[in-house]
Amino acid sequence: MQPLLELTGLTKRFGSILAVDRVGFAVARGEVVGFLGPNGAGKTTAMRMTAGFLPPDAGSARIAGFDIVDETRAAQARLGYLAEGAPSYGDMTPDALLGFVARVRGLDGATARRRRGEVVDRLSLARVLDQPIETLSKGFRRRVGLAAAILHDPEVLILDEPTDGLDPNQKHEVRTLLSEIAGGKAIVISTHILEEVDAVCTRAIVLAGGRIVADALPAELRQQAPNHNRVTVALDADHRDRLIAALRALPNIADIAEAHARDGRIRLTARPVRGAEILGAVRAAADSAEVPLDEITTEHGRLDDVFRRLTTAA
Ligand SMILES: Nc1ncnc2c1ncn2[C@@H]1O[C@H](COP(=O)(O)OP(=O)(O)OP(=O)(O)O)[C@@H](O)[C@H]1O
Ligand SMILES: [Mg+2]
Repeated sequence: MQPLLELTGLTKRFGSILAVDRVGFAVARGEVVGFLGPNGAGKTTAMRMTAGFLPPDAGSARIAGFDIVDETRAAQARLGYLAEGAPSYGDMTPDALLGFVARVRGLDGATARRRRGEVVDRLSLARVLDQPIETLSKGFRRRVGLAAAILHDPEVLILDEPTDGLDPNQKHEVRTLLSEIAGGKAIVISTHILEEVDAVCTRAIVLAGGRIVADALPAELRQQAPNHNRVTVALDADHRDRLIAALRALPNIADIAEAHARDGRIRLTARPVRGAEILGAVRAAADSAEVPLDEITTEHGRLDDVFRRLTTAA
């Protein structure tokens, strides 16, 4: 099946800065891609080119099969784009903006009313509909922008930091909205909030210095965390030597770190070889060495750690 969104070799240079360097990926219907990367990585530049707001120096973007440069109208008709920061048209009210967008998008009267009702409801805009956008709080301006981007129910959504500036409740609402509409669409969201990747994304693409440095499932990324599948146990210090000997005999343990707690107890942390699953083996080793464990915990690894490693090495 043809991907709904396809970027090929997208490249943009600003003077001496190579902002986007041969970025290419395809997004299928149903995928929600988290587009990650540190400040200045090139996310916004890549998204602007994809949405047809900035001509690429090289490469192309296709929306539902239509080239954004050669077939701009057909491509943009199938695309919703939320630009970074506040929407323009600050002197318009949300009500007027949504009416304007509905006309530009060519929605008929009944469809426009229905969709408008839906987005106003989903983004809780009812009470600010008649207030000029420039006088709204940052979070409300963001919501208005999002409402305008999804009004025509496009198949492809490119959202540049859609939850930036929203309060926790609205962040949750927007994530729920994206998850609910994701089934029939291809969605790319840039974000600095890594928990968002877990909450809504089926895939994560990490950009650094204009280049893609990772393209993986969130769970696969997490496996690259230094503490992925580390196991920590708490035990009476008297049993330390016995347990260490038993753990050393296991095949998948790279090293064992030790920390002393109060009350004559210690904690041992076993790090697996290549992120192997060792929880069961550690438990069994303690059992057969007859070492009672007060506590046993395992870690899955933090996306932050992986992100830092990927984006500071580049
Ligand atoms: N119009 C422009 N003129 C000159 N340089 C630009 C322009 N737009 C972006 N850049 C540069 O291109 C690089 C990529 O910027 P971009 O805004 O795409 O990064 P980003 O990943 O979106 O960062 P952030 O997380 O801060 O939003 C930066 O070095 C930026 O300064
Ligand atoms: Mg940006």
